[in-house]
Amino acid sequence: MSPAADIWASLPVPALLIDADDRILEINAAAEGFLNVSAKSVVGVPIWDQVNVDSPLEEAFARARNFETPLFVNDVDVGGGQRAPLQCGLQIAPLQGAPGQMIMLISPRELAGRITQHDSVKSAAKSAIGMAEMLAHEIKNPLAGITGAAQLLSMSLSKDDLELTDLIVEESRRIVKLLEQVEQFGNLSPPDFREVNIHDVLDRARRSALLGFGAQMKIIEDYDPSLPMAHGDPDQLLQVVLNLLKNASEAAGKDGGTIRLHSYFEHSFRLRRSDGTGRSLPLQIEIIDDGPGLPEAIKADVFDPFVSGRENGTGLGLALVSKIISDHGGSISVTSVPGRTVFRLSLARAPNKLALKKEV
Ligand SMILES: Nc1ncnc2c1ncn2[C@@H]1O[C@H](COP(=O)(O)OP(=O)(O)OP(=O)(O)O)[C@@H](O)[C@H]1O
Ligand SMILES: [Mg+2]
Repeated sequence: MSPAADIWASLPVPALLIDADDRILEINAAAEGFLNVSAKSVVGVPIWDQVNVDSPLEEAFARARNFETPLFVNDVDVGGGQRAPLQCGLQIAPLQGAPGQMIMLISPRELAGRITQHDSVKSAAKSAIGMAEMLAHEIKNPLAGITGAAQLLSMSLSKDDLELTDLIVEESRRIVKLLEQVEQFGNLSPPDFREVNIHDVLDRARRSALLGFGAQMKIIEDYDPSLPMAHGDPDQLLQVVLNLLKNASEAAGKDGGTIRLHSYFEHSFRLRRSDGTGRSLPLQIEIIDDGPGLPEAIKADVFDPFVSGRENGTGLGLALVSKIISDHGGSISVTSVPGRTVFRLSLARAPNKLALKKEV
């Protein structure tokens, strides 16, 4: 192979070569993966049929070709025949020495997000939660006093005024519940690592959801039966899946919807740490729902504590999920468009028993 062909094949970014009639000439291996198609099947296909961009690009694209200048487009949703749209940046440039031909690179935002999100989520959550924990502790005592006083007061009140003291007691209880949730967050112990069968965890969560908050939902299992054991704390991972199922059920509302629990193995998935070392996270678990999707306004911050799109939400569910996964050394990411929201967990495989024995 020529060096150019080597570079083309090893480029880790989806890349497409487009001819003068806006048809696909060639796509590299990364683009095959991204678009979920084979190179052979898309050669000759009009580019905009295969790559769906949510904003009209044709004109800018034609201009870049005519003036032989590069074109950069940030933050557009790009979808392909088989896949849901992802937020991406596009880099387009005329190919030197081949008039009319253009090269297009697609950089999904999610890839970058997955790698960097880890540390920043951790520290943001830590400081906000630390503050809230302190407040929780300080507020609980006076609140108990207020509730007690209201109850005493209610003894000497007429029936009509009782409504008011009931309101005080009820609302105080709601605050206490919130404070307890905050405290629970702070008290989360480090994971008790063992070999976990992820499918058992998913099953337990599924059954408990169907009996309670998710009774209106249909929950489909789509498991890779050969998935190896994960390295994790089964109780904490159950909490994670329950939270995700609860959110999906709440988003679907009374009419219900469908949640798909999808597990698969992705040998090459690694999380890069800031020190340059990588950790292999080959076990993938996706919780996919067909609800309305994340509200646009909070899309970028859903893993932060106290970010909620629901009237009575505390916004602690996903912050807890993110903390547990980060304590597990794993990774979580989300992509969401109306009709398809995917929370994806990536976890490490359990170390094999022989190696463990040697360590002991
Ligand atoms: N599957 C989903 N579909 C649509 N929106 C979602 C989904 N999951 C989460 N969200 C949005 O993200 C917000 C944050 O979720 P999170 O679980 O952190 O908090 P919450 O559900 O509002 O409150 P809590 O979990 O503490 O009761 C939700 O309020 C909701 O708006
Ligand atoms: Mg929640």
